[in-house]
Amino acid sequence: MRTLIRHGHVVNAGGASRADVLVEGETIAAVAPSLSAEADRIVDATGKLVLPGGIDAHTHLDMPLDADVTSADDFESGTIAAAIGGTTTVIDYATQFTGETLQHALETWMRKADGRAVVDYAFHMIVSDFSDRVETEMDALVREGVPSFKLFTAYPGRLMLDDGRIFRAMLRAAETGGLICLHAENGHVIDVLVRRALAAGRTSPRVHAETRPPGAEAEAVHRGIALAELAGAAVYIVHLSSAEALAEVVRGRDRGARVVAETCPQYLCLSDECYDAPGMEGAKYVMSPPLRAKAGQERLWLGLAAGEIDTVATDHCPFTLAEKARGAGDFSKIPNGAPGIETRMSLLFDAGVRRGRLSLERFVEVTSATPAKTFGLYPRKGAVAPGSDADLVVWDPEKTMTISAATHHMRVDYSPYEGRQVTVAAGVVLSRGQVVVEGGRFVGRTGAGRFLKRAGGTGL
Ligand code: URP
Ligand code: ZN
Ligand code: ZN
Repeated sequence: MRTLIRHGHVVNAGGASRADVLVEGETIAAVAPSLSAEADRIVDATGKLVLPGGIDAHTHLDMPLDADVTSADDFESGTIAAAIGGTTTVIDYATQFTGETLQHALETWMRKADGRAVVDYAFHMIVSDFSDRVETEMDALVREGVPSFKLFTAYPGRLMLDDGRIFRAMLRAAETGGLICLHAENGHVIDVLVRRALAAGRTSPRVHAETRPPGAEAEAVHRGIALAELAGAAVYIVHLSSAEALAEVVRGRDRGARVVAETCPQYLCLSDECYDAPGMEGAKYVMSPPLRAKAGQERLWLGLAAGEIDTVATDHCPFTLAEKARGAGDFSKIPNGAPGIETRMSLLFDAGVRRGRLSLERFVEVTSATPAKTFGLYPRKGAVAPGSDADLVVWDPEKTMTISAATHHMRVDYSPYEGRQVTVAAGVVLSRGQVVVEGGRFVGRTGAGRFLKRAGGTGL
């Protein structure tokens, strides 16, 4: 099967030009100003952008929060929504629960994704129960193509690891070509603030944000980077949300620390005013870290444009309104997380590229090329180039759409961006050469996505 995408404006992280793209089977065969090859299918991309498929390096699909609640999208609904939004690779967080081996957790996540994902997927591993045995098991995971591990400095008693365990995991990662991804918030401080707030009768969703201040994030980012330096390791800070935390990243880099920072559209496009909504409305935005004051937001945009922040992922972790309502009368019981896998690319394009904050090339870099490089997938993913997988998005930069839970494809009954107009939409999306989205509709096949064995030691 040959597909020729003609007359598009092809954008890579390193530059853009008007070019045709020839796809043969699953890969890109040629990219050139004018190709006259025979093709089974011709896509006219006149006036459109042709980009490498987006890579969302932070999702929680089919993730049990506890015995009663699991994140609302599974690998089928979540990856359909991803594809419609222009994302053709997801790196999901497989999760080790207390007492489990990493191998068991990986097999569980393999079963969740296999036969369901519609686009390619890979895994990181959340390590919540670190032990001597788990420390050695990390090596096997690196060899099996899961060379990144998420550790938490938050959620004491559930996910949090102490500094000694974090340090040991970092040492092991440095020795074996792994990478530690860090959820950086000071869990002990937050716990004290939460208990004091509840004791004072302060129970509404807004208090979630007030009890997780930017300083608690900045402290843990500073500590995480310092531990990584001591271990001779690199560290990837996930869902960075505040100017204060960004300042710690910049300081760390200035003294030579190897640190990569990820932010999410919610921290760029929404602010803590969302918590002022009446009743339990604010629960829609309960996530950790929380949304921050508008004042710091422009600093994140500047950091993203300047290369201080490296990637934009979603932290897609949706819960329904009924599940969020568990926290009525006690904000600390609201399931943490929000939907976003479908809207990442269009929100960032609209608020970033259209508003002049990001160049097209930088947009591609933070949504696709850098996640691919950081997580051992480049140049198979993250580039429109001969030999790369034909994961391609034909964007219509003039098409306007309104984000709404009534029309989105995520399996959750609200959108944090309800009613927001964005300009740009994915016209045609290819996943390894197969058209999976056309005219905003999913036309791919359940189970067509493949597990991506990632390379470790990407030279960070
Ligand atoms: O609130 C959030 N972010 N939920 C998802 C899990 C995590 O910490 O990334
Ligand atoms: Zn996290
Ligand atoms: Zn997350």
